[in-house]
Amino acid sequence: MAKESVKPARSIAGVIEPPGDKSISHRCAILAALARGRSEVSHYSGAADCQSTLDCLARLGVAVERTGRNGDGRVQITGAGIDGLRTPRRSLDAGNSGTTMRLLTGVLAGQHFDSMLTGDSSLKRRPMRRVIEPLERMGARIQAREANFAPLEIRGSTLQPIQYALPVPSAQVKSAILLAGLFAEGTTSIEEPVATRDHTEVALEGFGADVRRKGRVVSVLGRPSLQARQIVVPGDLSSAVFFLGATLILPGSSLVIHNVGLNPTRSAVLDVLSGWGAPISIVALRGESGELIGDVSVRHADLSGGTLCGELIAQLIDELPMLAALGPYTEKGVEIRDAGELRVKESDRIAVLADNLRRMGAQVEERPDGLRIEGRGAGRLRGAEIDPRGDHRMAMAFAVAALGAEGASVIRDSDCVGISYPDFFEVVERAVERQ
Ligand code: S3P
Repeated sequence: MAKESVKPARSIAGVIEPPGDKSISHRCAILAALARGRSEVSHYSGAADCQSTLDCLARLGVAVERTGRNGDGRVQITGAGIDGLRTPRRSLDAGNSGTTMRLLTGVLAGQHFDSMLTGDSSLKRRPMRRVIEPLERMGARIQAREANFAPLEIRGSTLQPIQYALPVPSAQVKSAILLAGLFAEGTTSIEEPVATRDHTEVALEGFGADVRRKGRVVSVLGRPSLQARQIVVPGDLSSAVFFLGATLILPGSSLVIHNVGLNPTRSAVLDVLSGWGAPISIVALRGESGELIGDVSVRHADLSGGTLCGELIAQLIDELPMLAALGPYTEKGVEIRDAGELRVKESDRIAVLADNLRRMGAQVEERPDGLRIEGRGAGRLRGAEIDPRGDHRMAMAFAVAALGAEGASVIRDSDCVGISYPDFFEVVERAVERQ
């Protein structure tokens, strides 16, 4: 198991190009596989998770050709239309990727063949009932361990459209149902309790599906003819946020993040940080393949901190680890509520945040649905041995927190950053200045 030593830094500066957005990469690959003809996806994420999606699609008979990695990744995917997938000879391995497993469950439920989806030990502990239940209402037949966990045995079935109110705010569940809806005759509609990322809707529109959106209801018409296309994936704001964090921790820092996705269902973190006093500005805002993209510049400032709760949580879900790890660097500290979902991510993120923040000397109260982290007044963080429990966002959030601590830290199992940001540590080393 790799270990990375992180020494304190004086400041961070320069220009960062984050990897292609992970959520958008998955969706483009899946829809390209269901479209007729050859699609070309530029800046496809080099993340291991997005490779898992490509590997599963290749096992389903889709021609996938990949050139380049990390940043300039270009993928050509040749689909044979929505009925073009082939019976896989072996089980499909989603690795660590919840998005791969949940979205493909939606696709596989409506096939004319059976399939099996599995994943690593973390993914096998994550709840799948949330996708199985609505898909069963559409006519899907899915066997899961304890009716909730992978491996999933999916019997190909004829699906009917549904009208479904999502009980949990989850873009993955919404997307699984929308994708299953492509194989049902008629209109499938989903109502969300709070708005979650809408990349599936944007990508479906781009590939030519009939998608309607009204308030929090989204509908898709089944049996579309999807057309191959050229797509440029924006940079991943959820990866860029670690560099925003480093800039805000280290006095005298300033950074520009190039070509980052600024879809309004993802960019709440910028509003939160601005509200806490971060000087953030967006330049060169433009549209790209249906998504918003721009350059973000940020300078160091002392942050006030504050409370994160309610509807905001769904829009910050992947940024909460970094926001929590900023807590000890803020004036008032950071409190996170209504975020029980964090316990069913790649790790139990509430427990892992509390444990590692305490290892660094922070004062933390762990609660069932969140945490309260005391601010600067509780003392400076000190270097520690961090155990991210194999969770990429934990490893990166604590690597950033360690840059501002007193004394060096060690991140155990540091390879796990490859799940979303393979060259994260190299990029950090290039951008920081030491004492
Ligand atoms: C994702 C949705 C979110 C997020 C995950 C990616 C997606 O999960 O945490 O990293 O690409 O749809 P949930 O849908 O479970 O909230």
